Amino acid sequence: MSTTAVQATQGRLTFPSTFWWGAATAAYQIEGSVSADGRTPSIWDTFASQPGRIDGGDTGATSTAHYLRYREDVKLMAELGLSAYRFSVAWPRVRRAGGAGWNEAGLDFYDRLVDELLAAGVRPVATLYHWDLPQELEDTGGWTSRDTALRFGEYAAAVATRLGDRVAMWNTLNEPWCSAFLGYGTGGHAPGRRGHVGALTATHHLLLAHGLGVAALRAAGVTGQVSVALNAGAVRPLTPAPADADAARRIDGLLNRIFFDPILRGVYPSDTIEDTKDLTDWHFVRPSDLATISAPIDAVCVNYYQPDLVSAAPAGELDHNTPYPTAQAVRFHPTPGPVTHMGWSVDPTGLRDLLVRIRRDYGDVPVYVTENGAAYDDRVGPDGGIEDPERIDYLRAHLAAVHEAIAAGVDLRGYFVWSLLDNFEWAFGFSRRFGLIHVDYATLQRTVKASGRWYSEAIAGNAIDV
Ligand code: NOJ
Repeated sequence: MSTTAVQATQGRLTFPSTFWWGAATAAYQIEGSVSADGRTPSIWDTFASQPGRIDGGDTGATSTAHYLRYREDVKLMAELGLSAYRFSVAWPRVRRAGGAGWNEAGLDFYDRLVDELLAAGVRPVATLYHWDLPQELEDTGGWTSRDTALRFGEYAAAVATRLGDRVAMWNTLNEPWCSAFLGYGTGGHAPGRRGHVGALTATHHLLLAHGLGVAALRAAGVTGQVSVALNAGAVRPLTPAPADADAARRIDGLLNRIFFDPILRGVYPSDTIEDTKDLTDWHFVRPSDLATISAPIDAVCVNYYQPDLVSAAPAGELDHNTPYPTAQAVRFHPTPGPVTHMGWSVDPTGLRDLLVRIRRDYGDVPVYVTENGAAYDDRVGPDGGIEDPERIDYLRAHLAAVHEAIAAGVDLRGYFVWSLLDNFEWAFGFSRRFGLIHVDYATLQRTVKASGRWYSEAIAGNAIDV
């Protein structure tokens, strides 16, 4: 894409005319109605029911009640002017207990949602797996079992058959790094299992699931683009010292290249295999897997929140609470500057660098930012309104970084704010609010925040003022 695709004049940054202005959510985080219409339990229902797992003992049982209120929510999307909405399909709504056939009532919900979106002029973007594995599949090994990847392929086919004529873009998986390294590595996410080998095994099976999902979507003849959403990041060494540079290389391998390389090049990064050889010989990778995993996709989707700043730690400091199974320890450092309510640093240069790096290392592939956003401690004012100037600053700065990447030649086609609505922030429960729209969890009332109004103006003008 040439630099003429975007303009920067007098503090105003204009985006390409075809740019998708989106917002994102995920099933377990917003839907509620966890027992409705034949839904079966997921690993997050189980995990959230265990004492001490989630702040405040919160669960997704009701959440924003989007399952019941989706029409109202689509209306709000239309009012904001969104050109795309990224949601996830809950596997436990589609799979029947025991795995016998598909639950039509569960599929009906997404059918209605997609039709509602299209009627409102909002492109549907569907993620097939946003962390809510059916508990029954965890009981037979979860992502440490190869069979789960095969079952995912069948599930992808069922959803594609139902929605394939209307979804504008598919994400097979959302942030498989989190599923593998938090779900099976540190145990901070469902299913709460711990161990470096499990995390690496799960990584491979998730990648295989992605490849089988791509094959299923293609076989079903879906009309939309096929992609995957990775929580990629810019990994930076604390100092230029070789030991710190090596720490950054190792983390980059385990965060970014372990996913990008198999998907886009059909190989695992050899240095990462070497770094982890004391843990595993990677016997779970079978000969044809990488060909499956590297089936061509139409775009790369990235979710970006903050860069990582790392240094080498003294030998012997191997921290078993780290998600990174590196042979040598690595220390993570806060990036100087402001942080969000998650404690995550606000650094849009990390987003620009990541986008530019994807083009440099993986070629001129279309890219979408499928998540970016910030939690802040929002307060409802006396007039019932929510002023969230920090979130506006965050979004403006990150959209400016996106604009910079486009001007640098990245074929960046769209941007999705995380999130449309305040919702269940996994282990943090409802204590962290990311929404453009505030949710009062007692009344379920939705209120568009100042940031939502700001985003809506940006969409209307296809530009931001900086
Ligand atoms: C990544 C995940 O995809 C999403 O589910 C989560 O809520 C946000 N990041 C914020 O942590």
